[in-house]
Amino acid sequence: MTLPSGSLAPIDEHGQTVQTMFDRIARGYDRANRVMSLGIDTRWRKRAVGPLCSHVPLTRDADVLDLCAGTLDGSIEILRARASARIIAGDFAAEMLAYGETKLTGEARARITTKVMDAHRLDVADRSQDAIFCAFGIRNLSDVPRASAEQFRVLRPGGQLCVLEFFRPTRWLTKLVHRVYNQGLLPLVGWAVTGDREAYRYLPRSIGRFYDHAAYAEVLRSAGFVDITVEPLTFGCASIVRAHVGEAQR
Ligand SMILES: C[S@@+](CC[C@H](N)C(=O)[O-])C[C@H]1O[C@@H](n2cnc3c(N)ncnc32)[C@H](O)[C@@H]1O
Repeated sequence: MTLPSGSLAPIDEHGQTVQTMFDRIARGYDRANRVMSLGIDTRWRKRAVGPLCSHVPLTRDADVLDLCAGTLDGSIEILRARASARIIAGDFAAEMLAYGETKLTGEARARITTKVMDAHRLDVADRSQDAIFCAFGIRNLSDVPRASAEQFRVLRPGGQLCVLEFFRPTRWLTKLVHRVYNQGLLPLVGWAVTGDREAYRYLPRSIGRFYDHAAYAEVLRSAGFVDITVEPLTFGCASIVRAHVGEAQR
């Protein structure tokens, strides 16, 4: 298989399929997101990153890893919330990062550094990050426990992991929304906007086989995280999960 220049080999076949898919849809990704979510995804990211660095004193730069950063919407939002953040935007789809870089202007160019990396083996030093943000990325991973252990490794004591994600629905209303919108309408809208039908069939499939909140929280607990909270968004369609590395944990 030929990878685009700057790419790296994922850990397994599932990773290769996901990487190829995101490299393929990189140019239409933002447009599809805005149309499919009616712009709500932007509000969700803003809400998620608001308190991300609140534990870091204003007297120093906050180190933040935007994991599965895609086209950098999360990184840009983090910088809006904390102008002195120093952000590593990591993703294994080089084309997504390359497209995202075209959106960076002024100070954002200096503060956001893109890095092609796999979430299962982060190219980031131990205890070097104050926070990790991951929007709509975890659901795509091959081995979530392994990736969670990596996230725990790179966070400083007191650090925060913030995950914005579509978890497997457990309540009747979110199950209904998932069935009607995600499984029925969304692949058609995604297909119409990007011309890529397969990529937007993948989305509802990946939600259906992902963890629900409780199971994901258990994975995080096993990796060492504490103080885990879940905040449902828009009738539970998406959720923000926050988890922390204890101050005295290491
Ligand atoms: C749905 S997009 C989300 C992008 C961005 N965070 C956002 O909010 O729009 C998922 C991203 O996760 C990345 N991704 C999936 N699996 C990954 C892995 N194992 N390592 C690194 N990035 C991965 C994909 O390349 C893609 O850019």
